[in-house]
Amino acid sequence: MNEDFQFDLIPYVLTHQRNVEHLDLDVDIGEEIRVLCVEEDQNAEFCAILNRSNQQAFGGPDSMGMPLWVMLDCAILPSAVVGFMVHSDEAPEEILEKLDVDEDYDGYVPVSEYCACPTVEPGCFSGFSLHSHLVGHGIATKTKALALAIYGAKTQIGVTQFYNPAIRVHVRFGAMEMIIHRPSVHTYPEDSFVYRLHLPEKEQLVQMARGDDVFGHRDLPEGMRWDFDPDNEVMQGRLARHLQEGGRAWLIPPGWRANEDGCELHMVLD
Ligand SMILES: CC(C)(COP(=O)(O)OP(=O)(O)OC[C@H]1O[C@@H](n2cnc3c(N)ncnc32)[C@H](O)[C@@H]1OP(=O)(O)O)[C@@H](O)C(=O)NCCC(=O)NCCS
Repeated sequence: MNEDFQFDLIPYVLTHQRNVEHLDLDVDIGEEIRVLCVEEDQNAEFCAILNRSNQQAFGGPDSMGMPLWVMLDCAILPSAVVGFMVHSDEAPEEILEKLDVDEDYDGYVPVSEYCACPTVEPGCFSGFSLHSHLVGHGIATKTKALALAIYGAKTQIGVTQFYNPAIRVHVRFGAMEMIIHRPSVHTYPEDSFVYRLHLPEKEQLVQMARGDDVFGHRDLPEGMRWDFDPDNEVMQGRLARHLQEGGRAWLIPPGWRANEDGCELHMVLD
């Protein structure tokens, strides 16, 4: 973590007023958590900037950028978008430009975001968006940890891509069990997998959100270690067969590493 990091990061929870009593806001990360309610018009510009921020991070509307209505229907209304923001006076110029923030805007600018919504399984949340615009300072890890603590999540499912360095963030919350290899129902089916996490307890999530602890669970599943190359179709076939035959597979820390040919994933097969 960079000692010179100079931004005053303020945690925010964007939701609907009716959800507030169901969220666990008794979370001490050293900064007051600001609750922004979507029905208040004064938060409309923040929501618009947040959506542009998501679009920037996920390749825009033709890729995996979140339509504004999805942000409302699937994130804000059933749950909350959680992240960190900085005041526009303090936001780096390149972020203001990237997010197309009006010159006369005087308010908060989101620099990170996590969204997950509850599933039919009690305690299980489906995570569908994580991004950070101040990369390399542990902000994505803190953001995800804070959100999961506030939701009261016990387990989490999500989809990511083999090539995405965010795997290094997700794997800090436990061994990621691969439950669907290359889901056919996805914008990028060949590059994706569905994973499931048994999350650390709230206290540990709060430590992670504070930046005092980088890893949650340390227990690793037993089995055969495997450095997996997603560009290698023989390995992809072997992984698919292993899962089809009832085998299990997990990604374990550090989870993902770039190499000269692309990347490798750190796995355990059982
Ligand atoms: C991936 C992303 C969320 C990381 O945000 P961040 O705030 O830098 O994340 P953190 O600092 O908490 O942790 C980053 C970890 O990933 C690594 N990492 C992040 N981006 C990386 C990259 N491009 N190449 C290699 N490693 C990278 C960091 O080195 C760090 O690991 P380490 O501390 O073990 O070295 C951010 O780059 C992003 O918003 N990407 C675009 C959206 C996206 O793909 N989201 C993931 C959806 S599943």
